[in-house]
Formats: sequence, structure tokens, C-alpha cells
Amino acid sequence: MRRPYTLRVKRIAVLGATGSIGRQALEIIDANPELEVCALASGTNDVGNLAAEREVAHAQVGGDLTVLLDRAEPDVVLNAVVGFAGLPATLWALERGVTLALANKESLVSAGELALAARERGGGLLLPVDSEHSALFQCLEGRSPDTVHSIVLTASGGPFRGRTREQLADVTRADALAHPTWRMGPKITVDSATLANKGLELIEAHFLFDLPYDRIEVVVHPTSVVHAIARFHDGAAIAHLGYPDMRVPISFALTYPDRAATPVETLDFADGLTLEFEPPDLETFPLLALARRAGESGGTFPCVYNAANEVAVAAFLAGRLPFLGIAGVVEETLGAVDGAPAPDLDTLTAADAEARRHAERAAGALVT
Ligand SMILES: NC(=O)c1ccc[n+]([C@@H]2O[C@H](COP(=O)([O-])OP(=O)(O)OC[C@H]3O[C@@H](n4cnc5c(N)ncnc54)[C@H](OP(=O)(O)O)[C@@H]3O)[C@@H](O)[C@H]2O)c1
Repeated sequence: MRRPYTLRVKRIAVLGATGSIGRQALEIIDANPELEVCALASGTNDVGNLAAEREVAHAQVGGDLTVLLDRAEPDVVLNAVVGFAGLPATLWALERGVTLALANKESLVSAGELALAARERGGGLLLPVDSEHSALFQCLEGRSPDTVHSIVLTASGGPFRGRTREQLADVTRADALAHPTWRMGPKITVDSATLANKGLELIEAHFLFDLPYDRIEVVVHPTSVVHAIARFHDGAAIAHLGYPDMRVPISFALTYPDRAATPVETLDFADGLTLEFEPPDLETFPLLALARRAGESGGTFPCVYNAANEVAVAAFLAGRLPFLGIAGVVEETLGAVDGAPAPDLDTLTAADAEARRHAERAAGALVT
């Protein structure tokens, strides 16, 4: 598309371009003359067609994404890679002060302290794309931290909300992938069914908003219309509402500090909004409580939690592990490591690899 020469166009590297977030980001970018794709990356699926359609010079499948970023020199990195594999790109952007639109929560969970130190040195923007964190960013923007009492992350509860542990013994991959409110990639959809996703988000929120864990609450809100709430010491609570559609937080991050229009409908209050809240069932969904404990323990425990969960979810999706085994693998792995802090990326990568080995063994043992 030819663009008016007076426009200052933001050049965006879309990492994870073939995924759920990546494809929605391309839709947002294509509809906005102030945004342009300068690089595309995926893990295994070809990005050749996507690059050709948009005349994008820099494209890469797998490999070291920092090589691609060095070549493309983007203004914004949209990190929508799934899993720990997204970490080098997160650190690349933060270290250089390049705006990071972060969907890849696993990198911040695993390497929160390294990432925040890199942001401090780089001095750039870290804009959350996760809908709850985008909502909180907006609720908290411009407020003094002294005025904030606590924050609340909402969880849909996933497809198994209301079930007992016994009722989850035989659930299948297809059952777990049938999310009631969000359409997402397979890993995060399973994480939503186990509530590990909310556990990862809890740790993500701790690092993003610099709040201790006892001031971050999780509530179940089945319709996913309220994305998050910030509570203030004066008794007020500010909530962020909208229909569950990731194009809104993606567009917010890509067009910040502006707020471009999207095709998403505004809320219709005459159509009967259901805003119910309930506490999460931590016994049936232990991965949320395990994440809180891993986060509070600090060091490399969050990294280990994430690594073990990635291994266990992959095993469940491959039919090698029952649904309830996912939490079993994570709990066992957390108990098997020392969680010592990682002062640098090499030590952290080693902790991630060690946790994966433990988790693979634990998954194998649970099946036999
Ligand atoms: N989907 C949502 O609504 C949503 C909401 C909030 C946060 N998030 C977060 O956003 C991230 C992406 O989620 P998603 O649902 O979009 O996942 P997805 O649909 O599974 O897409 C993942 C993307 O990452 C790419 N990828 C995987 N490994 C890679 C590697 N080593 N190098 C480069 N690219 C790699 C995949 O490429 P291939 O196609 O080649 O495999 C794909 O493009 C996750 O961290 C998730 O937690 C997602």
C-alpha cells in the first residue's frame, strides 16, 4: 500500500506471525496507514506468502530471532511467540529501548528480573498485550503507586469451571481446547483450562506493575467482559471493560499513546451484560496456587514453573499425559530444583533446561 509521505510510520516486527495473536496483529496493521510490518517470524510454518503479500524484506522461520531483529531495526517488536523461545527477542527489545509489545508472557515470567534490568538500561516502553495487563496498564497509567491498594485479574474459569477434580480425570484434548470465551493458540488454551494461564499472568503482573503477590488477586468472571480492576486506597475501584477480543489490546499496544479505532463493537449495555464474580477453585485447579507459591519464592522458581508447564502441556496435547498430570508434573518439578536466582541469561537458560529434564522424567513416570 502506498502511504502519504507526511505520515510517521511505525515499523513493526511481528514475531509469531502465523499464530493467533500474530494474525490478528497483521489485521490491525493492514488497516492502519501509520503502521507497517518490517519483519515476520514463525517457528516452523512458512512466512514466505505473508512476507510477499506485504513486500516485507525480513522474514525468518525458526532460528535466532535477534539476528532478524538486528537486520530489520524495528520501531516496535510485537513478541507473539509462544513459550520460553520468545525470551531472546524480549531481551533484545528491552536492552535497546525499542518499544516491546509483549504477548509472550512466558519470557517475563521466566526472566522477570533480567527483563526489568534490561528495560532500566534500555529506557524503552514495555506495553503488555495480554488483555488483563493491557487493562491494568490503562487503569493505573498516570496514578501514583502510593494510591494503589491492589489489583484484580479476572479469569474466565475456562471450559472446566464448576467441575470437581474427579470429573477432570478423563477429559480429552478436544475438551480442553473448547474455550468458552477466547479463541487462542493451543498452549494458552490448555493453560486457561488448568488456570496455569492465570498463574503465569499473576507473575507477569507482579513484574509489570511492581506489586507484591498479596496485593494481586484473581477472581473468576465467566463472561470475560471485565478484564481487570485496580483498587485504590480511597475506596474506589477502576475497571476496564470490553468484549473479549484480542484486537483491542493488540491495537492499543501498537498505536500507543494514541488509541486507534478497531472493528470491535463497543459494549452494548441494553443487551444484558452478565457481570458475575466468584473465587477460583484452587483445589481443582492447583496450578494457580502453585504459580503464586513459585512467584513468592522468587529466584528461578517462576522459570521452573513455566518450563515444567510447557513440557507438561506439550505432553498432554500429544496424548502422553492425562489432564490432571499437568499439575502433577509442575508440582514435582518445583519440588526437585533449588530455585537459586539466575544472575544472567546463561544461568537462567540452564535452569530452564534442567527443569525441562525433570518435567520430562516426571511426565514419563506419571504415565507408566
Ligand atoms: N491467543 C491469545 O488470545 C493470547 C492472549 C494473551 C496472550 N497470548 C500469548 O501470546 C503468545 C502467542 O499465543 P498464540 O495464542 O498466538 O499462540 P499460537 O497461535 O500457538 O502462535 C504461536 C506463534 O509462535 C510461533 N513460534 C513458536 N515457536 C517459535 C520460535 N521458536 N521462533 C519463532 N516463532 C515461534 C509460531 O510459529 P508456527 O506457526 O511456525 O508454529 C506461531 O506463529 C503466547 O505467549 C500466549 O500466552 C495469547
